[in-house]
Amino acid sequence: MKETGSIKSMFDKIVRRYDFLNHLLSLGQDILWRKKMAKETLNGKTYFVLDLATGTGDSAKELLRKGMKIVGVDISFEMLKVAVRKIEGNFIPVSASAYQLPFKNQSFDAVTCAFGIRNMHDTEKALGEINRVIKKGGRVLILEFSLPQGLLRKPYLFYLKKFIPFVASIFSVRSAYEYLGLSIEKFYNPSDFVNIMEKCGFKKIKTFSLSFGTVYLYIGEKI
Ligand SMILES: C[S@@+](CC[C@H](N)C(=O)[O-])C[C@H]1O[C@@H](n2cnc3c(N)ncnc32)[C@H](O)[C@@H]1O
Repeated sequence: MKETGSIKSMFDKIVRRYDFLNHLLSLGQDILWRKKMAKETLNGKTYFVLDLATGTGDSAKELLRKGMKIVGVDISFEMLKVAVRKIEGNFIPVSASAYQLPFKNQSFDAVTCAFGIRNMHDTEKALGEINRVIKKGGRVLILEFSLPQGLLRKPYLFYLKKFIPFVASIFSVRSAYEYLGLSIEKFYNPSDFVNIMEKCGFKKIKTFSLSFGTVYLYIGEKI
């Protein structure tokens, strides 16, 4: 697992083609995954949401469409700069680390984090901070990649470890997309991740398997 400093510079370097490759390599599925997360975040009222690891702001944009007010946190200043250019409205960008969120306890109705937690080497510390800043009764929603089970696993590993780095070498930085595959392989399986969320204080955890189990949405409550 890479340290926070090298993660930051890696995302700073790949920012130019980041959105384009997300859409291309997921065949546009990433748009649907974020829509699903935004739909589940809305809970009948206008929410004040922290979008952690907000990156170039695609999740924040979906949340804004639902009428929420968003604070977007990221360690990569270059990614945040793109988010600011793309987003109009109730979006406050904050350059900070997930391990030390610059907010008081119980500040937010919900925290969302799309494809960020896998990059945080101290998962429990990050989840602990997320838990701290959510109001009682609030929710965390985490989107993250996973390896599918069964027949799909082998071809998906080929896609992840050979095809994606090849395409990335044409448009972006190959090593960053090699790291993508490695980090997905190393990340917890869904049931282990649910256990860690529980250990970090979240209850009533629900999981949704998306795109044949290649992506999971985890939703937990702070009671
Ligand atoms: C794969 S991108 C996801 C961006 C965006 N959420 C999306 O769905 O496209 C991961 C993001 O997490 C950020 N990140 C990684 N480690 C972080 C940390 N410790 N604190 C805050 N942000 C972090 C990176 O800078 C990067 O923008």
